[in-house]
Amino acid sequence: MQYKAVKLVKRPEVRITPDVFEVVSLETPALEAGQVLLRQTHMSLDPAMKGWMSADRGSYIPPVELGSIMRSSGLAEVVESRNDAFPVGTRLMGMIGWTEYAVSDGKGLSKVPPGIPAEAVLCVLALPGVTAWKGFMDLARPKQGETLVVSGAAGSVGSIVGQLGKHVGMRVIGSAGSQDKRDWLTGELGFDAAIDYKSPDLLQELTAVTPDGVDVYFENTGGPIQFATYQRMNAHGRIVVCGMISDYNAEKLSPGPNWINIIRKRLTIRGYTMPDYWDELPDLSRKVGEYLLAGKLKYRAHTLQGLESAIEGINLLFTGGNTGKLLVAL
Ligand SMILES: NC(=O)c1ccc[n+]([C@@H]2O[C@H](COP(=O)([O-])OP(=O)(O)OC[C@H]3O[C@@H](n4cnc5c(N)ncnc54)[C@H](OP(=O)(O)O)[C@@H]3O)[C@@H](O)[C@H]2O)c1
Repeated sequence: MQYKAVKLVKRPEVRITPDVFEVVSLETPALEAGQVLLRQTHMSLDPAMKGWMSADRGSYIPPVELGSIMRSSGLAEVVESRNDAFPVGTRLMGMIGWTEYAVSDGKGLSKVPPGIPAEAVLCVLALPGVTAWKGFMDLARPKQGETLVVSGAAGSVGSIVGQLGKHVGMRVIGSAGSQDKRDWLTGELGFDAAIDYKSPDLLQELTAVTPDGVDVYFENTGGPIQFATYQRMNAHGRIVVCGMISDYNAEKLSPGPNWINIIRKRLTIRGYTMPDYWDELPDLSRKVGEYLLAGKLKYRAHTLQGLESAIEGINLLFTGGNTGKLLVAL
């Protein structure tokens, strides 16, 4: 059977342009013993892909080699099986790539229980949920009554962090780039306030909604909200650095705030990436899954249609054009 896949053939300069990809037509091979044929139903598009496309070998994960299928996580269904552990119909999630079909021996993939909608799997149970849980619940050490600021708050990770903050009993402030996103945060998700990180009066506006200062800053974006929040940090505050999307397409990286506040306020600043915690995934997924099934986590998906929509669509992440977790339905 013929199917389509997308290979990375060039490294992007600044913006991700279509010429860095090549759409190829491939033939599904005959399965060997132990293998399964997967039909991918939904693929995740993530800001980290920009880094994976670069030639940087000093990062937390090696780059995608030129000429190979672009890396991504996704949800797939077994459509042919020579492995008793994964009969036809089994749903699996994990790193599958920009492809309609893939052959696998199941290693590195997790079974997804039936009945959970595909969007819920990729918006919450997969990377966004475990990233939010690990960074916020474990590394930020949140406490009831404290104040949390989360940047990129309407995004897939940020929106879960903010909701977890409300479940802990914190005052939660989110920053987001559009009124629609800010209304969703305060109206649907129960954030105490949402602010526009592009506002010329950002520090003043942040000060007004953080009368008791900020105890936890969950960083997804960098940029002006980082400077403003850093000035509002309380003594013994915790900053968890999950992402810096404002720098991913920048020709010159932001210099960042001066370190003097780290001493004055005795701050802890902690960066993390999920590949360091792969062994904790079953436990993290179980915790996130319990919240999801209990109706404690809302989400919204921004779903593109068809494999090739990823080629332009990935840039929505960098313009803020995605309203919710960016997915491709195949
Ligand atoms: N450490 C880890 O292991 C890990 C794992 C997953 C994700 N992450 C990081 O977490 C962050 C959020 O990822 P996500 O998957 O949840 O994406 P997302 O927030 O769903 O989408 C990206 C959002 O970033 C915002 N953005 C884009 N350019 C910006 C800029 N220059 N300044 C401020 N905001 C900007 C846009 O929202 P607005 O409309 O609000 O501008 C956009 O919708 C990313 O930095 C990502 O790299 C880290």
